[in-house]
Amino acid sequence: MTAIAAPTPTRGVRKRTEMLSSSLDFGGEPIDLADYASTGLVSVAVAPRGLGKTNVGLVIAEQLAQQGWVSVLVDPEDELGALYGAPVTDAEDLRRRLVERTDPIIVVSAHDAAEFVPYGQVMFEVADEHRKPMFVMLDEGQLWSAPRKRKSSDGTNSLGEATDAINEFVERGRKRCIDMFITALRYSGTLHRSIFTSANLTLIGQQADPTVWSSLAPQFRSSGIDFADLQGLGTGEFICLSRRGMEKVRMPMAGALRDVALKARTVRRALPSNFRQWDRALREIPTERLDKLDAPVVHLLGAIAGLSAEQMASGTRALDDILSTAE
Ligand SMILES: Nc1ncnc2c1ncn2[C@@H]1O[C@H](COP(=O)(O)OP(=O)(O)OP(=O)(O)O)[C@@H](O)[C@H]1O
Ligand SMILES: [Mg+2]
Repeated sequence: MTAIAAPTPTRGVRKRTEMLSSSLDFGGEPIDLADYASTGLVSVAVAPRGLGKTNVGLVIAEQLAQQGWVSVLVDPEDELGALYGAPVTDAEDLRRRLVERTDPIIVVSAHDAAEFVPYGQVMFEVADEHRKPMFVMLDEGQLWSAPRKRKSSDGTNSLGEATDAINEFVERGRKRCIDMFITALRYSGTLHRSIFTSANLTLIGQQADPTVWSSLAPQFRSSGIDFADLQGLGTGEFICLSRRGMEKVRMPMAGALRDVALKARTVRRALPSNFRQWDRALREIPTERLDKLDAPVVHLLGAIAGLSAEQMASGTRALDDILSTAE
């Protein structure tokens, strides 16, 4: 992201004293952040649609915000403002709020790399100047990061500035002690590989593609976890790879999501509510029509129908399941 012209970080290792007494609770053994005091946190959640990646980021954001961080939620789908307050109006608004630190959680609405650039620059500048703990959640990481070269419009093969934005943001953010979380839909073809290699807290959700197992197997060797375990993971279930090792976790729901999920549950019980019911209902619809149901359309229809978060999740899973077997 050459457009981000942040000053070179000051030399010398910054001591992350805030890390020494902080932890994350994913429902299993608490993750002691003292283990991350020298490296900072680069966290990645990998799972197909609807299995709880955004929730993981929100859980981390909420828990860090309670322990002295300011958490910035970069929201490409305009869904987080309703949960955590209106997005910043522009980059200067973000700067003011990052400096004041009165809001522990800040939402930034950015839909592509170009929109993200001025915000990323402000995050770097504030991190350099003020040196206070900051956590950045980059939801839908694939929107900003590409794994391979793309042809640009003039026909030359170049790594577009935009496609590499997150990759560079992670690298330069890490040097500035910005802790991060990124989501990816799959292991291959969505994020730059270097993000997976720099990750130090990885959450692996359900994997339906057996070909990923060959690349994952070395990490799982001697853990007793095999591909069938990954295939069987449900919503909110992840294999968590941390500095301490590997553990299956059942993520708690983020406070803000729990509130809306409960409210939504009382509405429209007549619509399908579990995977089997959705599967039956969706199989009556021609595949060409189901193919048109991309994520924004599904979100919109769900909102109009007043579906609960659980209904959305099981419906999305049933849809993905049908489309993947129809291919
Ligand atoms: N830990 C959890 N426990 C129970 N239910 C969960 C959990 N995490 C997520 N869910 C349910 O699954 C739904 C989808 O979760 P979330 O939006 O986090 O998934 P996602 O992987 O980010 O999906 P997408 O790829 O579509 O953005 C939530 O609305 C919630 O109802
Ligand atoms: Mg999500």
